[in-house]
Amino acid sequence: MPNPIPAASRPRLDPADDLTQAAAIDLNAALSDLHSQRTTAPIIRPSRAEDVALLIDHSFPQGGDSLEQLVEQISRATKRYPRRNTHPGFFGWIAPSGLPSDPLAHAMVSLLNENVGGYWASPVGTTIEKTVIRWLADLVDFPQQSQGVFMSGGSMANMCGIASACAKRFGPGFRSQGLAAFSLESRPVILCSRAAHFSIRRAAVMLGIGTDNIVTIDTDDQFRMRVDALASALAEHDNIICVVASAGTTNTGAIDPLPQIADLCSTQDVWLHVDAAYGAGGLMSAQLRPRFSGIERADSVVMDMHKWFFQSLSGSLLLYRDPGWARQLFSESSDYLRMNEDESPEQFAFFSISPELSRRFRALPFYISMRHYGLERLGRNVLHNVQCAEYLANRVRNEQDLELISAPQLSILCFRFRPDGLDDDSVDRLNTTIRDRIQLEGDYLISPTRVNDRPVLRVCIINHATRAEHVEGLLASILRIGHDLVAAGDE
Ligand SMILES: Cc1ncc(COP(=O)(O)O)c(C=O)c1O
Repeated sequence: MPNPIPAASRPRLDPADDLTQAAAIDLNAALSDLHSQRTTAPIIRPSRAEDVALLIDHSFPQGGDSLEQLVEQISRATKRYPRRNTHPGFFGWIAPSGLPSDPLAHAMVSLLNENVGGYWASPVGTTIEKTVIRWLADLVDFPQQSQGVFMSGGSMANMCGIASACAKRFGPGFRSQGLAAFSLESRPVILCSRAAHFSIRRAAVMLGIGTDNIVTIDTDDQFRMRVDALASALAEHDNIICVVASAGTTNTGAIDPLPQIADLCSTQDVWLHVDAAYGAGGLMSAQLRPRFSGIERADSVVMDMHKWFFQSLSGSLLLYRDPGWARQLFSESSDYLRMNEDESPEQFAFFSISPELSRRFRALPFYISMRHYGLERLGRNVLHNVQCAEYLANRVRNEQDLELISAPQLSILCFRFRPDGLDDDSVDRLNTTIRDRIQLEGDYLISPTRVNDRPVLRVCIINHATRAEHVEGLLASILRIGHDLVAAGDE
């Protein structure tokens, strides 16, 4: 049939273009340079935004750049100004290394392009996401009726866990009347340790609770929540939304005393939310699992896949012991999306237990890597990270010029270069300079932080490719730079 649409307004993007172009480039060859960058030094190179901008084409996109040219442009830019979380010498923040199966899995996600809002929108995607969630729920020993949902990251997942706590605390009126209706007699508060991640504060902002209504509980000498201080705070406040405990704090990797915290919460019927965004990967190792004892008693748990599960960005699991509270909060029906009341699996919708509607097929890379490598094998790498951290801690204990500030409870430790005869301020400057020089040399990276209000050298080991030699190399660099600085009188 002749095309009834005038030629001038016919689309220029032929559906076949994608395929011809994709077929015309060899994906493996095109991406091989990016692949080789994963483990090459430097890990990071100082840059100014204007220098980076010069490597990116800012002209109005008229089209016509070939895919090869585009890959080449990005590859050149990241080679010049890298930030390689993937490198085994990367010990900064809490950044995932990504697994070798991820590029394939993420390509599949794009090709399929399913919107995993619920079963009817993506029968396979929903089935796979529920499957992965069940494996992870089993790791924390959550009951069969528990449910979960993958979200973009730990920050969003923490917020939704706390939102569900509000639903339980205030009942159905919370959804319609908002928090103000429940703040008349006494202020609603969240209790968490002073070492909790700042996403808890932002959750309080976004939920209208306010940061003034976060009651911070002191920590002990191992940076864990003090149970006696929590007990006092619980006795003092009568409008408690939840207690947030950490299973692996960001700065020192401390695990709060979960069994005692769970005891206090259950006695007072207070929601216990456990932020295991970093630590949960440790659950993959049977040897490490006892360290998380008590997590199985939480009402909600957050575990980031893009931290210690080694997975490429991004995905964080929010687990609900009882998903009914989240459902009370998030269930919606509209003219164009009429939700059926029946609870059959075919009616299941992730958007009824979380705020996102359109959702990427986030669980597919996790399904593929977990089935390909097996949780046990990934768990061995997690355990190896912990052993590297413990090994480094012992080396630090035995070095005269080093002082261990926080021993690893998982795979993070903090220490200071502290030669005799220097005052605290000089030691502060020395450690800051050592950290900066390590970054400049490019083979290792440690990120800035402070513990007990002093700068420390913080080493976070969550890369599946990190081995003892990398830890040894880092230590040698720290000692060499530290001693050179002292010899030059630069402290
Ligand atoms: C303990 C903890 N919770 C939550 C978060 C926030 O996670 P995300 O960056 O995935 O939003 C982090 C980030 O490092 C964290 O360490």
